[in-house]
Amino acid sequence: MLSDVTEAPSTRVLRPEFPVRTDRLQIRPLTLDDVDAMHAYRSIPEVCRYVPFEPMTKDDIAARIGRQWASRELTDDGQVFILGVEVTESQTLVGDVMLAWSSREHATAEIGWTQHPEHGGHGYSTEAARAMLRLAFDGIGLHRVMARLDERNDASARLCERLGMRQEARLVENEWFKGEWTNELDFAILDREWRALAGAV
Ligand SMILES: CC(C)(COP(=O)(O)OP(=O)(O)OC[C@H]1O[C@@H](n2cnc3c(N)ncnc32)[C@H](O)[C@@H]1OP(=O)(O)O)[C@@H](O)C(=O)NCCC(=O)NCCS
Repeated sequence: MLSDVTEAPSTRVLRPEFPVRTDRLQIRPLTLDDVDAMHAYRSIPEVCRYVPFEPMTKDDIAARIGRQWASRELTDDGQVFILGVEVTESQTLVGDVMLAWSSREHATAEIGWTQHPEHGGHGYSTEAARAMLRLAFDGIGLHRVMARLDERNDASARLCERLGMRQEARLVENEWFKGEWTNELDFAILDREWRALAGAV
């Protein structure tokens, strides 16, 4: 599945073979053909309530797919994957997942997810996020992956728990976010914890 992975974690790069397949999903780079499907959920105010972006127009989405969301490889920290989550059987784009390589030195990354509410409740985002953890740990050889959540985002907290992530921190009113002070929950999982879980499945 992976190529161009060298021995030392500090020198690894990630060039997955796309699509990355899971039981029910294909996780793949976004294209301009995905603009309408992405707009269907990234334009919904409720979907954007706890995420750093505002409801998007089709032009916003097309511009990002043409630039920062076009990445097919992570060669260094500071780089980010935003990948489409497609249900293989129906060939429907139901959401997207993020993997951001935070630090080469500390071998850390951050993950995130956004999904159309019409396709919620099936475990698709959990399945896609597990694939992102696999890319982070097996692909780049990272040590720790975290997720940052608004404390009120219960669905996301449950998702983190399903992934086996531990809540490590509750930051009180650490951000002025969309017009109010908000609390942040930090969840994380280490490579050895991921491997122990994978071995248990
Ligand atoms: C966060 C978000 C992706 C969660 O969506 P979700 O549908 O709850 O997540 P999943 O796709 O993983 O589905 C899990 C749900 O399906 C259920 N489920 C059904 N079949 C399942 C399966 N095979 N595997 C796992 N879960 C399954 C789970 O029980 C869970 O429901 P529950 O939380 O009520 O117990 C969604 O609410 C969202 O996009 N929110 C807006 C964007 C956002 O806030 N992003 C996070 C920023 S930190």
